[in-house]
Amino acid sequence: MIYLDNAATSFPKPEAVYQALDRFARTSLANPGRAGHRMAIAAEQMLDATRHALNQFFGGAAPERWIFTLNCTDGLNLAIKGIVQAGDHVVTTDLEHNSISRPLRALEKAGVIALTRVGSEAGYVDPEAIRRAITPRTSLVAMTHASNVLGTVQPIEPIAELVRQAGALLLVDAAQSAGVVPIDLRQTPIDLLAFPGHKALYGPTGTGALYVGPRTDGRLRPWREGGTGGDSSSPTQPVLLPYFLEGGTPNVLGIAGLAAGVAWVAEQGPALVRRHEVELLQRVVDWTAESNDWRVAGRWDPQTHVGALSLIVPDSLTPQDLGAILDTSFEIAVRPGLHCAPYIHRTLGTFPNGTLRLSPGPFNTVEQITAFTEALSAITAGVL
Ligand SMILES: Cc1ncc(COP(=O)(O)O)c(C=O)c1O
Repeated sequence: MIYLDNAATSFPKPEAVYQALDRFARTSLANPGRAGHRMAIAAEQMLDATRHALNQFFGGAAPERWIFTLNCTDGLNLAIKGIVQAGDHVVTTDLEHNSISRPLRALEKAGVIALTRVGSEAGYVDPEAIRRAITPRTSLVAMTHASNVLGTVQPIEPIAELVRQAGALLLVDAAQSAGVVPIDLRQTPIDLLAFPGHKALYGPTGTGALYVGPRTDGRLRPWREGGTGGDSSSPTQPVLLPYFLEGGTPNVLGIAGLAAGVAWVAEQGPALVRRHEVELLQRVVDWTAESNDWRVAGRWDPQTHVGALSLIVPDSLTPQDLGAILDTSFEIAVRPGLHCAPYIHRTLGTFPNGTLRLSPGPFNTVEQITAFTEALSAITAGVL
């Protein structure tokens, strides 16, 4: 199989991740902290070490500010539902994945918040449009760092500055950027950063994290309460981070794999991984430039792109048919459709069928990309 669906979840993982999962599962797969025996302590230490690694990798304020989540959706929901209050105004964009759009729309529909959705232009949001959308009632700006449909990286640094100046909190969905676009929280004032562990940090599925910055203290409410492994006497959730926001047994096995993934990325350097992926995509972009049938969605700029690219499918085909043909006849895995991001497809004019998205990873090769473009040429020649 030629796997070009890394924006959904990365495959394969670095060898060190498989080894870490195997080792941890055989030696330390206990419930962290709870019993105080050596296996429980080893599991707790692994969680602590992973929080330290994340804090160092992203330049956070403290290790305990990294809350482990089940995926990116879990972290985004924790952030959104934990922060907004009745009567608040929230700003978002048309690039968002449903994991931001749906919780916000549900709150808007229930009359809890007022919502402004800022439009993008060729895949990019203008910071000035965010500034104009902010009102004195805006408590939160919730937006993606990189579009999962187009791969376009948003100008998050100026946006973070202006949101901070306006006194609102900034929630960044780093699902497509964490691990490939350097993020330094000491330089960029992001209050809440959510990401999955299973994409470009190469952990297994069932992992993710939410960074909760100092400005959220006293404002962020847990949406899941329960056992924390430590102080059991308190009738309510202990207020100490990370336990305040982490009720229940964490996915210790997955997090052990995530730790190995983060170490692998830190060793490679996010810039190197991104460059490889963008160079592979450049070949597809060059191929479309010579084709009468295929177009790239959004503006292609290799400097501000991650390893995801959407192709606009010729009228005589649907992205769904194409994805199925690539899978069954060519053993190529891509992602057709709306990619859980319907608003941007409306903006692009590709709603409801969507586009064909390919997203190479660090282990894909030039030969595999050539096989992909040759497959598209063959399908187009046979069908059109
Ligand atoms: C931009 C973006 N946000 C959020 C998510 C949701 O991530 P998860 O599936 O880990 O919940 C995705 C997944 O593809 C995504 O691309």
